[in-house]
Amino acid sequence: MAKIGRNDPCRCGSGLKFKNCHLGLDAAKPAVRLKTEHDAYVKKWTANSSCFESQGCYAWMATKVKMNTPATLLDIGCGDGRGLKAILQANSNSEFRVIGIDENLSCLHETEKTLREAGFTVELLDRTTLHTIGEVHQFTYLPIAPKTKSQVTLLQSDLLSDEFLSDYLLSLGKIDAITVWLVGTHLERGNCKNIQHLSIGSSGQYRLRVQNKAYELADAVLKAGGVLHIVDRGEVPTTDHLKQDFLNAHKDQASVTSLNVLGLEFMEYEEPQVQMRIAMVKTLGTSGRVPDLSKTAMLSVLSRR
Ligand SMILES: C[S@@+](CC[C@H](N)C(=O)[O-])C[C@H]1O[C@@H](n2cnc3c(N)ncnc32)[C@H](O)[C@@H]1O
Ligand SMILES: [Zn+2]
Repeated sequence: MAKIGRNDPCRCGSGLKFKNCHLGLDAAKPAVRLKTEHDAYVKKWTANSSCFESQGCYAWMATKVKMNTPATLLDIGCGDGRGLKAILQANSNSEFRVIGIDENLSCLHETEKTLREAGFTVELLDRTTLHTIGEVHQFTYLPIAPKTKSQVTLLQSDLLSDEFLSDYLLSLGKIDAITVWLVGTHLERGNCKNIQHLSIGSSGQYRLRVQNKAYELADAVLKAGGVLHIVDRGEVPTTDHLKQDFLNAHKDQASVTSLNVLGLEFMEYEEPQVQMRIAMVKTLGTSGRVPDLSKTAMLSVLSRR
């Protein structure tokens, strides 16, 4: 088979050039594969997030979870912290607290930096031990220490496999809001032993699994009247049929919980044009229609417990 060139499309189908996708990972020694990929992911995500921030996407998303009273919000998957920054800026009340979780420690470090620079107090709890066996890695989680005094607590935690997360959240008292914005993950997630039993076959399935788990967690830890806010990138829902198609996927997930899907709102935006970015995962509605991505929107779905 011909050797793949640096500028050829990557074999994984991401749409990126090989040099911007799997090349770094292919060259990494097994012991540093995860760290290499974690670092590469946050670097690329910054290209996405700065583009979304400059178009006002995060500020718009944050208006959906604006609280008028003291409140606690859980953000699942912080990325580089630009989303959380918008949330904190929209909720200037001094008793507003945030717990941010991410599986990727490099993302948490970047989030810590973003939020400190914006003037917020942040504590980062790295509570995992990492074991590497060949190309496969496994996390062991420690129980989560109780409350911290900072406005923001960042936890290394995989929503799909951290058995201590829900008890920790319950110990804080009920949560007012949960945000799951633009779920996606890095190229080494398939080599994580903690989640291999889930047999996740594609990025689309991965996103659904995470959102599914978020509905379950919201059911357990949200206070009555609390909200779960999920945002995905996708096709502009120009017709009622498209809106319903997208909403139905959420209604299916909410149907086994005590949450009610309130509705869909969207904001048109433009995808970043640079090569170094995290490519978009196509969101299929319940009909399985392949979306037309010539125009893109942030699709926001709010559910209430
Ligand atoms: C595409 S980024 C979005 C970041 C941020 N929410 C935003 O809107 O800019 C997705 C984030 O979710 C994190 N993530 C993916 N799967 C996760 C999981 N199972 N548990 C915790 N975090 C996860 C990734 O590491 C990444 O930081
Ligand atoms: Zn690739």
